[in-house]
Amino acid sequence: MRVLGLETSCDETAAAIVARDADGHGAILANIVLSQLDEHRAYGGVVPEIAARSHLSHLDGLIAAALEEAGLDFGDLDAIAATGGPGLIGGVMVGTLTAKAIAWAKGLPFLAINHLEGHALTARLTVDDPAEASFPYLLLLVSGGHCQLLAVEGLGRYRLYGSTVDDAVGEAFDKVAKLLDLGYPGGPALEKAAEGATNPARFRLPVPMQGREGCDFSFSGLKTAVRQQIERLDGPPSAADRADLAAGFQANAARSIAERTERAAQRFTQECGPGRPLVVAGGVAANRTIRRALHQVAEAAGMRFLAPPLDLCTDNAAMIAWAGAERLAAGLSDPLDFRPRPRWPLAELTGGSTVGDAR
Ligand code: KG4
Ligand code: ZN
Repeated sequence: MRVLGLETSCDETAAAIVARDADGHGAILANIVLSQLDEHRAYGGVVPEIAARSHLSHLDGLIAAALEEAGLDFGDLDAIAATGGPGLIGGVMVGTLTAKAIAWAKGLPFLAINHLEGHALTARLTVDDPAEASFPYLLLLVSGGHCQLLAVEGLGRYRLYGSTVDDAVGEAFDKVAKLLDLGYPGGPALEKAAEGATNPARFRLPVPMQGREGCDFSFSGLKTAVRQQIERLDGPPSAADRADLAAGFQANAARSIAERTERAAQRFTQECGPGRPLVVAGGVAANRTIRRALHQVAEAAGMRFLAPPLDLCTDNAAMIAWAGAERLAAGLSDPLDFRPRPRWPLAELTGGSTVGDAR
């Protein structure tokens, strides 16, 4: 089956077409992402109204381009999927209304996809053999808006092990990058600045939640500690100060994520058995220090580490099309009066019990 997917929940306008065969093999036929970064840069963050207007201006053109790249017409599609939330409501409305209009005009099923489920299922699209990413697996979802550890037991079946009690890790990267005047978006800029560090341990910074029970995260204390170190300097931070602070922050954030994930891995192994995958998803999964730390955690826990390619870790529509294809294959679709959901926890998803992958 072939599914067109649309992603408009934040500051990327994206359209993609994926194919899924009866055995669960996936293929990306087109994947186009238009970043709005330049439109928001002057404000140092995403402006919802600008984002929604930009989605509206560009989405139709991107859909046409995706069809052309795949060499397909609307008539070759089996369904239309769009992010139904969580996200900025204006953008989600643009995406879902567009998808509903196409679905209605062409008589195709419509699927409202939870953006987080899109991230959560991406690994199943990118593995060569679907058995490598069969359910259940442990998922670490780390993005600008989310920071969670979940047991993924099936389509629409998620059990939350822990989440952040304050900032999401990507949000903390973005805020610390702003404190250090490293530019926007902060995560990649901070990672780059950290490469120039000569002494990442020079500034005393805490490792968040170290030794705490459970699998929750917290990043605001680490962020505040960076601000206090900047305030203690004589004058504005030099390039060397900024590099060391960036590296110190990144190292401790990675250490914290690794420690929390280690705890989740123990619990998951007890509940779901050994040798299952540890999957990382979301924009922060692009960070190499964090990837390395997680790889080690997986190895130590006897789990297989699965990380989608970098361009499929950050927001894209291939993951939305793929989640649509998986849901369609399970016999699911959504009514055309689906209401966009600015908030939509994964734990509230339903409807996946039909996909019972072999262990
Ligand atoms: O998943 P995503 O594209 O959007 C959502 O938040 O849903 O994630 C974007 C987040 C931003 O906070 C960005 O700064 C962070 O991911 N990010 C990174 C890196 N690349 C993106 N954080 C740390 N290191 C990176 N290399
Ligand atoms: Zn995302």
